[in-house]
Amino acid sequence: MTEPRIRRRRDDDMESCVEALATVYEADRYPVAWPADPAGWLTPGGLLGAWVAVDGPRVLGHVALTRTGDALAARIGRPAAELAAVSRLFATATARRRGVARALLAAAARAAAGDGLRPVLEVEDGGRAAVALYERSGWRRVGSRPGDWTTPDGRTALLHTYTAPPAVTA
Ligand SMILES: CC(C)(COP(=O)(O)OP(=O)(O)OC[C@H]1O[C@@H](n2cnc3c(N)ncnc32)[C@H](O)[C@@H]1OP(=O)(O)O)[C@@H](O)C(=O)NCCC(=O)NCCS
Repeated sequence: MTEPRIRRRRDDDMESCVEALATVYEADRYPVAWPADPAGWLTPGGLLGAWVAVDGPRVLGHVALTRTGDALAARIGRPAAELAAVSRLFATATARRRGVARALLAAAARAAAGDGLRPVLEVEDGGRAAVALYERSGWRRVGSRPGDWTTPDGRTALLHTYTAPPAVTA
């Protein structure tokens, strides 16, 4: 199996990114509700960078790195200015277990660390593959809290907060 190729997202990737996201929504209900503006959803406020995994012109996966909100920073116990949040991470339904997300996560974490920022993230409890990925990648759970929505299986969302391992912090 060849290593996935990771590069910075370009404007002309957006159509393929949205197509890729549609496969993830179909398979996993991620995001929970299909956004009215999927390209906008892939470009959240405070964006520091975005990366794609590609196979030729096809996008196999995506990750974004953003500024961290004050509430998340408070949960971590560090100033928001020292943190960067990993978000919008997915691998297309047909490109799973090939190391796509592991490589994307590493790229985002490296970029954060390169800017002197500590990578953090939140994941919903039902995202079992994502939780396994983060724990396998050495990320540490530092807290949990209820979310303000109901999951597709009828639970109140439960969000876990993770910080990156020291190897990828500044
Ligand atoms: C979570 C997700 C991004 C993982 O993508 P992926 O490219 O298949 O993950 P990788 O191949 O890089 O997996 C790396 C490691 O994570 C763990 N892992 C990934 N998927 C797993 C699964 N379904 N079950 C158990 N462990 C899993 C494994 O340890 C894996 O290593 P291995 O394959 O050598 O055992 C993908 O399943 C996805 O897009 N899910 C829906 C969207 C989502 O939940 N995004 C995260 C939001 S916080």
